[in-house]
This record gives sequence, C-alpha cells and structure tokens, in this order.
Amino acid sequence: MSTTPPPHTTGYFARHIFFCLNERDNGQDCCARHGAQAAFEHCKNLVKQAGLAGPGQVRVNKAGCLDRCAAGPVAVVYPEGTWYSYVDTSDIDEIVESHLKNGKVVERLLTAPELGR
Ligand code: FES
Repeated sequence: MSTTPPPHTTGYFARHIFFCLNERDNGQDCCARHGAQAAFEHCKNLVKQAGLAGPGQVRVNKAGCLDRCAAGPVAVVYPEGTWYSYVDTSDIDEIVESHLKNGKVVERLLTAPELGR
C-alpha cells in the first residue's frame, strides 16, 4: 500500500509557525504582554532573510489565543505540532535555525505538556 498522501492533502507550505499575539484588556495575562509581537516580527524577518519563506517552505503566522496562556508566550510549529515557550528573540533565532531550517526540535524550549490555559 502506498504511503504517498493524495494531492489535496499535500502542504502548500512545508511548515507553519503560529504565534499567539492575543492581547487582553481585562487584566488577565496574555502573550502580548510578554513580547509576542516583537518575537513574531523577528521570526518573520529571520525566515525571510534565511530564504526560508515561500511555497514549499515556511510560513510565519499570527494567531489569536492558542489556549495555552499559562505557558506563554507560545508558538506552535505544524505539521509536527511542536509547542514552544520562548523568552526572547535569541530563542526565536534558535527555533528558526534548528527547527524551521533543519527540522530539529529545540528541546530546551518545549512547552511543558501539563501547561494549558
Ligand atoms: S494568550 Fe497566548 S495562548 Fe492564550
């Protein structure tokens, strides 16, 4: 039996990385208060500079709340479904270089599995 997926299920992009950019104005914590916008922009620029952007490659996407606020700021890479909790732009550098460029998960930045909302 063939393991090749049917054409309609093949990805236009090889990977997406979604950044939660959610901002709450009710006093509750949110990724936007922890540098999410800057991290998103940094990632987008890096991916572009590295020549990784475009069809067949990587797409950097904005997202609303990803429902893992307790682990924020968070970003998730698909199709692997790898969740990252980052602190600063050097963490983003590592995610881009290791995971988005070379397919190697950055273990030290993985979101703790028990952390949700
Ligand atoms: S506010 Fe970012 S995951 Fe909920």
